This record gives sequence, structure tokens and C-alpha cells, in this order.
Amino acid sequence: MGKNTCICAVIGYPIGHSISPAIHNAAFRKIRINCYYKAIEIQDPKRAIDEMIENNYRGYSVTIPHKVTIMKYLDEIDPLAKKIGAINTVINTNRHLKGYNTDVTGAMRAIRDVMNIEGKKVVLIGAGGAARAIGFGLKEVGTDILIQNRTSKNAESLAKALNCQYSKIDPTLIKNCDLIINTTPVGMHPDINRSVIEEIPENCTIMDIVYNPIETKLLKLAKARSCKIINGLGMFVYQAAEQFRLFTGKEAPLELMRKVAKERLS
Ligand code: ATR
Repeated sequence: MGKNTCICAVIGYPIGHSISPAIHNAAFRKIRINCYYKAIEIQDPKRAIDEMIENNYRGYSVTIPHKVTIMKYLDEIDPLAKKIGAINTVINTNRHLKGYNTDVTGAMRAIRDVMNIEGKKVVLIGAGGAARAIGFGLKEVGTDILIQNRTSKNAESLAKALNCQYSKIDPTLIKNCDLIINTTPVGMHPDINRSVIEEIPENCTIMDIVYNPIETKLLKLAKARSCKIINGLGMFVYQAAEQFRLFTGKEAPLELMRKVAKERLS
């Protein structure tokens, strides 16, 4: 690493499992750019920001639990990220720190690979940060959303923000829906034998944002019902590719990033 190497990092707590360094570093090497991406396990978002300024880091990927709390330390927030109320990327341009949310565009791109989403009926399972980001993306293209969540209070508050309906998690309440998206961590490694719903409605596409494992129990159940599926790898790779573009100003080598992510996850 030379004096002019641009440094990027993923910040979060815990961070040990992250595959982001592998995919970003592979992409930097591929397009021969003098950047290095590392993982910083850090509990205090303010300290992460101080380190960014001190060491002149170019960019951060921001993950749990900092996506909301870090916002108050930034100079500028991209309008869509502001609406969502969470960021997942910080770009440092001559000490001016700007926050973005690439989860939204990542999710929308993954959905568009499989279907036209405009005007469709979508059930969002979960009401946390990921549901909020995807919900705003879906709302922008005029979808009809139903939120299903374990805790009614959280469902209600997101439903208010998105101006949509909500209910408890119950597949029998899902009628004529085009797409169901699991935004909860249920089914994620090591709990791979769990699914947020066991009964899969017919004729409906099923998306899981969990990407570890790539084929979750929910997606297996969906396949058994002959439903189309969207796994979490697409959203993960697309959001990373958009971060890469923000870090470097260059298009990301998408297929390479997808290949490295797949290798790391299997
Ligand atoms: P993120 O920011 O990644 O979306 P989060 O804000 O912690 O994470 O949100 C997690 C979501 O998954 C919440 O909607 C949570 O439901 P509650 O609102 O009831 O807490 C949901 N979730 C987490 N574990 C769950 C489980 N075992 N069963 C059902 N829903 C779960």
C-alpha cells in the first residue's frame, strides 16, 4: 500500500463475517485502481468518522448498527437517503462527508432483473431498516404495499411513513399478490432451517434479502410451489457495485463481484 493508495472500509459491529472486503478488493484489482478496502469493527460511529477524516479514507460502507446513528456526523445526505432515514455509504471528498443509501437501488435492480414492478402488489415482511429502504424504493414506482410484521407497533409506524396497510405475519391474509419480500433476518446462517412464512401463496414471486445462505429455506419452499424466486445475492452485489461507483467514479465489474461473492458464500 503506497502513500497515495485510496482507502475504503466497511464499518460495523460485529464485522468479522463481512464479504465486502473480498468483493471490493477483487474489483479494484480488476480495473487496476490504487485502492484498498478493509473491515473496521467499531462500536462508536463518531470515532469512525474521526478516523475517516484523520486518515483521509475515501469511503465507508456502513452496516449494522450504524446506518441511522452515523447520519448526524455527516455534512450532507442524499435526498433519497434522507427520506429513508438511513444511509449505507459515506463518501469523503476533501473532508466533505456525504451519505447515500445504495440498498434501495440495489433492491430495485434485483427486482427488475426478474419482473416489472410498476403498479404491482407487494408484501413486505418486516418493518426494520431494510424494509424501510425497500418500501421507499417501491413507493417511488407506485406499487401497492402491505407490511406484515411480528410487532404491530413497528408495522404501524412504517405503514404510516409509506402510507400503506399493515398486518401481522400471516400468509393467509395475502391475496393476489405479485411479490413477497422477506426483509427480516429469519433464515440467515446459522438458523438456516427457519422461514418467516411456511405457507407460500401460489403465483407469486418470492424474494429474500438474506444472502447467507444464497438459497434460504423460504426460497426452497417457494421453488417447491413453482414460484419465481429472487435471492439476496443480487441486491447485495448491486448495492456494492453502486458503492464502488461512488468510491471510484468508475463502473463496477459486476460479474466479477457476483462471482467472488458467490464463491465466498458457498
Ligand atoms: P434491519 O435494519 O436489518 O432491517 P432491524 O431494524 O433490526 O434490522 O429489523 C429487523 C426486522 O426483522 C424487524 O421488523 C423485526 O421484527 P420486529 O419489528 O417485530 O422486531 C424482524 N424480525 C427479526 N427477527 C424476527 C423473527 N424471529 N421473526 C419475525 N420477525 C423478525
